[in-house]
Amino acid sequence: MKTHTTTEKSEMARRQIDIRKTSQELTPTQIVRELDNYIIGQHEAKKSVAIALRNRWRRLQVPENLREEIMPNNIILIGPTGVGKTEIARRLAKLANAPFIKVEASKFTEVGYVGRDVDSMIRDLTELAVVMVKSEKTGEVQEKAEHLAEERILDILIPSVRKSKSEGNALSAEASDEELNEKTRERFREKIKAGQLDDRIIELDLPTDQFPAMQILGPMNLEEMGVNLQDVFGNIMPKKMKKRKMSVADAKQILIHEEAQKLIDQDAAIKEAIRRVENSGIVFLDEIDKIAGSRSASAGPDVSREGVQRDLLPIVEGSTVATKYGMVRTDHVLFIASGAFHVSKPSDLIPELQGRFPIRVELKSLTEEDFVKILTLPQNALIKQYVALLKTDGVEIDFSDGAIRAIARIATQVNDEVENIGARRLHTIMTSLLEEILFDAPEKISSATISITKELVEEKLNSIVKNKDLSRFIL
Ligand SMILES: Nc1ncnc2c1ncn2[C@@H]1O[C@H](COP(=O)(O)OP(=O)(O)OP(=O)(O)O)[C@@H](O)[C@H]1O
Ligand SMILES: [Mg+2]
Repeated sequence: MKTHTTTEKSEMARRQIDIRKTSQELTPTQIVRELDNYIIGQHEAKKSVAIALRNRWRRLQVPENLREEIMPNNIILIGPTGVGKTEIARRLAKLANAPFIKVEASKFTEVGYVGRDVDSMIRDLTELAVVMVKSEKTGEVQEKAEHLAEERILDILIPSVRKSKSEGNALSAEASDEELNEKTRERFREKIKAGQLDDRIIELDLPTDQFPAMQILGPMNLEEMGVNLQDVFGNIMPKKMKKRKMSVADAKQILIHEEAQKLIDQDAAIKEAIRRVENSGIVFLDEIDKIAGSRSASAGPDVSREGVQRDLLPIVEGSTVATKYGMVRTDHVLFIASGAFHVSKPSDLIPELQGRFPIRVELKSLTEEDFVKILTLPQNALIKQYVALLKTDGVEIDFSDGAIRAIARIATQVNDEVENIGARRLHTIMTSLLEEILFDAPEKISSATISITKELVEEKLNSIVKNKDLSRFIL
């Protein structure tokens, strides 16, 4: 009877999680709306990443025989520097309830060269998914694990009397002893729950970290091989235990973790993680233009760039990567690449790779109007950041509309005249503008509120803007 109810309960919990998951699946419109909270403009780019993200979910709803045939439509985001390419990816990562990894294409090198090989991104993605699934599963068993952890702390605090049972003479006295012991345990359990014993120091048996020396064995990076020696040897050699003193509060955290790990079906978690990587994993390949050498040039580095592209190809096309958790197929992993393509063009990528990124979206250069919005609207807008920063020192700053417009105008002007670095220009301008206040606060600031007006902005920045050589260095 009892087992029946617990399985029923876990079934209910599972269903609840399923509901939570589907309600978290955002529709394209919702995704764009979420991205709008952080990124100004770039509607086309937002739309295509939203569609791509939603298509992952749609594919999983399709009957199985067709599902295998539906390939992800990988995307290349193209646009000048500082217009929000990486920012879109970063925000998407937070939205996507899916394993997501952002890697710089430029850090890969061809097989045989020093550097990371391209397979490592799939290994990292899998590692991430495993952490993700395990932490979800931990949430499910949290209550049980807490109970077991308390139980173990109680064992340390109040040694059980039951051990003396074997001697078995005065039965009734022993029974009452046991009862008494049980009562004390109950009392202490309440105290532990209420955190009243948090500061008490207890001694705990913990497995020591093993074989730190293993990591430096041999010239090859073992992690790159996808082998974890600790796992291999850890199972053969007995774990070394070490006594450590710590507070009940710390011990509880450690023990909850330990118990949770025992409760989770590790193999099932890993299977689930691999399933998620294969079906909904997203890889964001940043700075892909850096590996697109123009093919006419035959100088050294280009050889290796093209080599990286050739290494990337099978992964993007769909292959099987060996990870320490098992084989992972990349056929349905979504790749979003991004690059400024200043010097090179998408057509400089090797043709096979171009074909694997059928969707190209261009991000536009930002206008003065966009800068005004970027300064004020996003949840993490620069102005909001500085206001919050200075508030910690008791200084209120207040920007007039005219001031914000002036900042945006100057940013556009410097971008036009010196170099277009997009919204990053706002950062440099804001720091120059506010440097004095940031330095003087809190001592030398007399009034509690400082108004930043159009005049103040112009007074501070115009002289720098006018002097080209100076602005090249400062702004
Ligand atoms: N459209 C935008 N809306 C809001 N903030 C933006 C926008 N574009 C850029 N930013 C801000 O500018 C900074 C740089 O943007 P981001 O890192 O996305 O540039 P990027 O397009 O990836 O450039 P690069 O090609 O140099 O990598 C970020 O801090 C971001 O907050
Ligand atoms: Mg970037």
